[in-house]
Amino acid sequence: MTTNPSQVRGMTAAALTKKILGNQPLFILDVRNEADFNDWKIEGKQIQTVNIPYFELLDGVENILDQIPDDREVLVVCAKEGSSIFVAEQLTEQGKVNVSFLNGGMKAWSEHLEPVKVGELKDGGTIYQFVRIGKGCLSYMVISGDEAAIIDAVRMTEVYESFAHDRRVLIKHTIDTHLHADHISGGRKLAESTGASYWLPPKDADEVVFFYHKLGQSSTITVGKSTISIQPVYSPGHTIGSTSLIVDDQYLLTGDSLFVQSIGRPDLAGKAEDWVGDLRNTLYNRYKLLSEDLTVLPAHFGQATELGDGGKVSARLGDLYRMNPGLNIQDEAKFRAAVTESLPPQPNAYEAIRQTNMGKTFPSDEEQREMELGPNRCAIHDK
Ligand SMILES: [Fe+2]
Repeated sequence: MTTNPSQVRGMTAAALTKKILGNQPLFILDVRNEADFNDWKIEGKQIQTVNIPYFELLDGVENILDQIPDDREVLVVCAKEGSSIFVAEQLTEQGKVNVSFLNGGMKAWSEHLEPVKVGELKDGGTIYQFVRIGKGCLSYMVISGDEAAIIDAVRMTEVYESFAHDRRVLIKHTIDTHLHADHISGGRKLAESTGASYWLPPKDADEVVFFYHKLGQSSTITVGKSTISIQPVYSPGHTIGSTSLIVDDQYLLTGDSLFVQSIGRPDLAGKAEDWVGDLRNTLYNRYKLLSEDLTVLPAHFGQATELGDGGKVSARLGDLYRMNPGLNIQDEAKFRAAVTESLPPQPNAYEAIRQTNMGKTFPSDEEQREMELGPNRCAIHDK
């Protein structure tokens, strides 16, 4: 079978992100096996996806041509890239135009970060959200004057470094709202490479083997000469140390305690029964004491429908008290059942990820990529 690689184009994860956020129609042919596809796939409001495993296409694509539309762009997707190039070439040879493959496959998709401006802070400061669209992780950069703080950094730390460099700001603080179980934190690595201070809630750090600054309610972290303050609010439940951050009296970074359409799960350290009461107290009492006008900025999103303007994921706290189902379970027993029973599967390799984030294991870059494949699953409701 002859193929001509020049016939097919690759689409980068960045270009695909732009299409999804721009609500452009796209047809995705995902050629991974059915289990991987059902576990995790590319989603968007205008995306239609069909899964036909690669091994069914080894003899050619003639049998599936009628399933491939001619009125839209077609993107072939696989785990790493190789099979999708092969299938895209076959489709092109069979007369399909406008077919491309995803550069780097789902691995590259998992790693793309899209920076989105959230809003202005006083005295000319800015807060950005970094949307890891393929995995659903959200991290933040607070900029004021010539300084920056990064919250819940993911492993691709070079993205934050070049973003800060372009804006001529120095990263002074990296902060984790909790010990993450779904992704490998970039907070410590980023602190080491930039000379920043790394902050972590001490109650999540019992087994942590490296030096960190204790993120507690008495610590106010200041960014820039204009003194944008980051005020921690202890909010246990998802983990026992989980700590939210109020930035510039405007934004509430909730970590994995509260999302836009769901709430955090308490079971990723094996202590759901112990922590469910803390989670209830955080969501139904502690956050209630805060201003309803705070803009909630979570550490994850669960579904493409949560992506707002330009990809931004945010909501007013008062609106979440009306609309988020997890904040509207008045009966305590029902709440307990909702957050401890019928939970979605736990994130892939979550225990190994926790060990890495404690500094106890040192997987290679490639092993870290493998550990992180799949969706984040930090909420009580899966997709
Ligand atoms: Fe988490």
